[in-house]
Amino acid sequence: MIEDMKKMAGEKAAEYVKDGMVIGLGTGSTVYYTILKLGDMVKDGLDIIGIPTSKETENLARNLGIKVGTLTEYPEIDLTIDGADEIDPELNLIKGGGGALLREKIVAYASKKEIIVADERKIVEKLGERFYLPVEVIPFSEGVVFRKLDDMGLNPKVRMKDGGKYITDNGNMIIDCHTGPIKDPKNLEKELNMIPGVVENGLFIGLADMAIVGTKKKIKVLKGV
Ligand code: 5RP
Repeated sequence: MIEDMKKMAGEKAAEYVKDGMVIGLGTGSTVYYTILKLGDMVKDGLDIIGIPTSKETENLARNLGIKVGTLTEYPEIDLTIDGADEIDPELNLIKGGGGALLREKIVAYASKKEIIVADERKIVEKLGERFYLPVEVIPFSEGVVFRKLDDMGLNPKVRMKDGGKYITDNGNMIIDCHTGPIKDPKNLEKELNMIPGVVENGLFIGLADMAIVGTKKKIKVLKGV
């Protein structure tokens, strides 16, 4: 059922992709369906350049025959399609459950339009109410950043994988903050990035233009303010 919702939303977003566009390719299990669909469209003659937000997405795109470029070659992206862990009523997001938040935020920043694809579980009133907030950190700074996040009352936990610390595509670590509902996400986004050693955090404020949400019955399209 959840998988049907993801597929519906993911495939719908592919309709916004037009010939000749540079497309930011997000990371995760929902945008996966968008990328599969784009692979089919490319086989039918669609000509696009994909800018992947992770090594995983890059491999998927290449295997499907989608041309892949870099931000150095294409610093301006026409449209990015990506997933999210939480979406609030203003289309502010928490992202980074899949660990790709840094490249996802750079790509979102470089994009003229950002469409989010998700299933209905991702819709929240306040960011932080269901999901944790990922913070990408340079390993050298782990102890200092962890202590600061703890002092801020953000309940930090170092992300682990296969018995070791999780390492991102950029060679960094992730500290997940179990914040609870966040009162002022805009301010927290800035405050976190001011801590030396923090590379980026998973609050995406004012970056999404539209969300395509798969529900039990149909697709809901939410527009930004
Ligand atoms: C990866 C992300 C993903 O977009 C987010 O975790 C949503 O993934 P999914 O569609 O698998 O639920 O931010 O860093």
